[in-house]
Amino acid sequence: MSDQPVALITGASSGIGLATARTFLENGVHVVGVARNPAKLDNAAEGLTGLPARFVPVALDVTANDSPARAVAQAIDTFGRLDHLVNNAGIGSPAPVHETDDDTLDQFLNIMLRAPFRLAREALTAFGDTATIVNVSSTYAILGGLRGGAYSAAKAGLNGLTLHMAAQYGAAGIRSNAVAPGVIPTPMTEHRLEAEAFRRMNHDMTPAARWGQVEDVAQAIWFLSSPASGWINGQVLAVDGGWTATKYLSEEALTAPRESTSPDWTHSGRPPKRD
Ligand code: NAI
Repeated sequence: MSDQPVALITGASSGIGLATARTFLENGVHVVGVARNPAKLDNAAEGLTGLPARFVPVALDVTANDSPARAVAQAIDTFGRLDHLVNNAGIGSPAPVHETDDDTLDQFLNIMLRAPFRLAREALTAFGDTATIVNVSSTYAILGGLRGGAYSAAKAGLNGLTLHMAAQYGAAGIRSNAVAPGVIPTPMTEHRLEAEAFRRMNHDMTPAARWGQVEDVAQAIWFLSSPASGWINGQVLAVDGGWTATKYLSEEALTAPRESTSPDWTHSGRPPKRD
C-alpha cells in the first residue's frame, strides 16, 4: 500500500479538474484522474509528469453503470488505498426550464448528480479511517442564475447530497464539503464569455478586479481535502470573488445602456401561453 494519500478526481483532463489534479500532485497526493476523452486525458497526464506524486489516467464516462467500480478499483489496484474523492466532472450551457427537453434534463442530472452520488457510494467502501469528499457545485445553485435550468437543479441536488453525507459519515471520519465556483474561464465557459451580457452579469457584478482562475478553485478544493480543514464538514464554500455574497455593481455595470443586454439574457423568456 502506498505511503502517500490517493485522490480520485473526475473531470481531470481540463479546466478546474486539471488544476486540482496538479495541486494535489504538488502536495504529494497520488491522483487517479477520470475524464471522458482518452486523448485529452493522455495529454493532461503528459503535462503532469515530474510532480512529486503520480497521476494515473482513467478514461471513462462517469454516467456509465460500471464507472464508479472501475474508477475506485483503479485506485485500489494501483495504490492500495483511497483517501479523497473530488466529484468535479460536469457540463455547461444550460437553458431555462421551458427550453429544456427530457433528454437534456437527464443528461445534466446524470453527469452532475447521479454520477457523484454513485461515485461517493463506491468510494465509501474503499476509504480508510479518515477521508474527504469534495463536490464541485456552483454559485448558480446558491442564487437563481438566469438560464440555470437543469444545471442549477443538479448542482443544488449535489449540495443536498453533500450535507447528507456530512451528517451521515462525519462520525466515521469522512468529511463532505462542496465548493461553489463563480464563473471561471475554462473550455466549458469560454464561448459564453463572448456574450457581453454574460460577462457583465458575472465580471461586472464581482467585487474583484480580475476574473477567477482555475487555481483559485483548485486551492479551495485542496484546502477542504487537507487536514488544515479538519474541523470543516458540510459546508458549501462559494469561490467567486464575492459574487454571491454581495450586490455589487461595477461603475461599468451601473452605467451600461439597457440595449447592451442580449435577448438570451433578459428576464422575459417564457414558453408561449396556451390558447
Ligand atoms: P471543463 O469543460 O474544462 O472540464 C470538464 C471536465 O469534465 C472534463 O475533464 C470532461 O472530460 C469531464 N466530463 C464531462 N462529462 C463527463 C462524463 N460524462 N464522464 C467523464 N468526464 C466527464 O469544465 P470546468 O469549467 O473545469 O468545470 C468543472 C466543474 O466545475 C463542472 O462540474 C462545472 O459545472 C463546475 N463549475 C464550473 C464553473 C466555471 O465557470 N468554469 C463555475 C461553476 C461550476
